[in-house]
Amino acid sequence: MSMGHRDRQHVSDPSSRDGSEKKSFTFLRNELPVRLANIMKEINLLPKQLLCMPSVQLVESWYEQSFEELVAFDKADCTDQTVLERFCDTLIKIRNRHNNVVETMAQGMLEMKETHCIEPTNFDCQIQYFLDRFYLSRISIRMLISQHTLVFGQTLPENVRQIGSIDPYCNVLQVAEDAYENARFLCEQYYMTAPECNFICLNPHEKVKEILITYVPSHLYHMLFELIKNSMRAVVEKHEDEPSIPKLDLMICKGKEDVTFKLSDQGGGIARSEVDVLFNYMYSTAPRPPSPNSASNTPLAGYGYGLPLSRLYAKYFNGDLRLNSVEGYGTDATIYLKVFPSDASELLPVYNKTSRNKYDDVSVPISDWSDSSQKNGLHSGPAKSASHFKRPGNGKNGSNGQT
Ligand SMILES: Nc1ncnc2c1ncn2[C@@H]1O[C@H](COP(=O)(O)OP(=O)(O)OP(=O)(O)O)[C@@H](O)[C@H]1O
Ligand SMILES: [Mg+2]
Repeated sequence: MSMGHRDRQHVSDPSSRDGSEKKSFTFLRNELPVRLANIMKEINLLPKQLLCMPSVQLVESWYEQSFEELVAFDKADCTDQTVLERFCDTLIKIRNRHNNVVETMAQGMLEMKETHCIEPTNFDCQIQYFLDRFYLSRISIRMLISQHTLVFGQTLPENVRQIGSIDPYCNVLQVAEDAYENARFLCEQYYMTAPECNFICLNPHEKVKEILITYVPSHLYHMLFELIKNSMRAVVEKHEDEPSIPKLDLMICKGKEDVTFKLSDQGGGIARSEVDVLFNYMYSTAPRPPSPNSASNTPLAGYGYGLPLSRLYAKYFNGDLRLNSVEGYGTDATIYLKVFPSDASELLPVYNKTSRNKYDDVSVPISDWSDSSQKNGLHSGPAKSASHFKRPGNGKNGSNGQT
C-alpha cells in the first residue's frame, strides 16, 4: 500500500511525465482493486435496511463489476502494448460507470427514509461517518484514474502545462474568477440578480503578485463554486427587497504554510448551533430541487451536498474547509490548502478494526456532561474521526513517478 501514498508534488513532478506507463499500470492494477475492496467491505457494514435499497444495490454492483474488471489484469503482460491500451480503456469505462455514484447513493438514503419510518439506532452518525469515507475514497480512486488516463491515454489535459489533472502552476485567482462567473450565471438565472465580488490577492512572501500553486484546478473550482453559490443565495435572499445587494469579498493569501481563501458575505449568517449540522449530508434549507435527471434549470442549492463534499476535496490533500458566522450579519467560509506539495499527502480512509467498530456500536451514547450537546467534550469539531483516516507521512515514501 505504501505506493498509494501520493502527494501533489510526486504526481506533478515533471519527470513523472516520462514515468513509464508499465510502472503506472503495475501500480494501479494492485492499488485500485485494494481501494475498491476496502470500501466495498465498508458498504457491507451499513444497516441492512439501507443495504437492501435498490440504489445502494446498484452502487454495489458497479463496484463489484469494476473490481472484477481490474483483477482480470492481474496476470496480464505489462510489456504488451495492447494490454496497456486495454487497461486505459477499462479505466475510462470504470470512471464513466461511477459518474453518478454520489447521486445514486443519496437516492438510496432517501429510499430508506421513505420505506422505513423508524431509522436504525445511531443511523445519522453512521451514515455521516460512512459517506465521508466513501466519497473520499471515490475522490482518490478518480484521481488515480485521471492521472493515468490523462498522462498515458488519448485525451489531453485541458492545459498543456498540466500533468494529468494537476497543474504545477495553478493560478488560483483565475480559478476563483471562473467559479464566480459560473455561479453568477446560475444565480442570475434563478433570482434575476447576483452580487458582485471583490477579489483581493495577497502574496507577502514572494516578489510576484500572482498566486501560483501546485493543485488540481478542478478540485479548487468545485470548492469555490459551491461556497460562492451558498453565499450568493444567502445574500440575495436576505437583501431581496432592498435597492442594492452587498458585494461578496474573496481574499486569497499565500502564507508560508497555507494558501487561504476567505469568502465573506453579508447573507445574514448562521446560528452557532446550526454550523455543525450544515456539514451533514442531505442537510439543506433550500427547497428540494427536481431530480438530477430532469431537464429543468440547475438550481443554485438543494441537495445539501455542497459543504460536506467540498470539505472532503479540501481534506483530500491535507487542507480544510471551515465556516465562521456572525449570526444576523454574515458568514466567512474559509478554505485552507497546503503551499508545499510535499505537505499535501493524500488522506485516505483505512479499513480496520476501529473503523468496523464504528458500525457495530449501536448503543446510544450517554452524555457525561450536564448539557448533552457536548458530545465531544469541551472542544467539539472535526477531530472526531481523524484517527480513522490515513495520512501517509510526508509523502517521501513511495513515489515512483508512475502517474
Ligand atoms: N454563506 C452562507 N450563509 C448562510 N447559510 C449558509 C451559507 N452557506 C451554507 N448555508 C446553509 O447551509 C446549508 C447547507 O449548505 P450546502 O451547500 O451543503 O447545501 P445546499 O446549498 O443547501 O445544497 P447544494 O447541495 O446544492 O449545495 C444551506 O442550505 C444553507 O442553509
Ligand atoms: Mg450549496
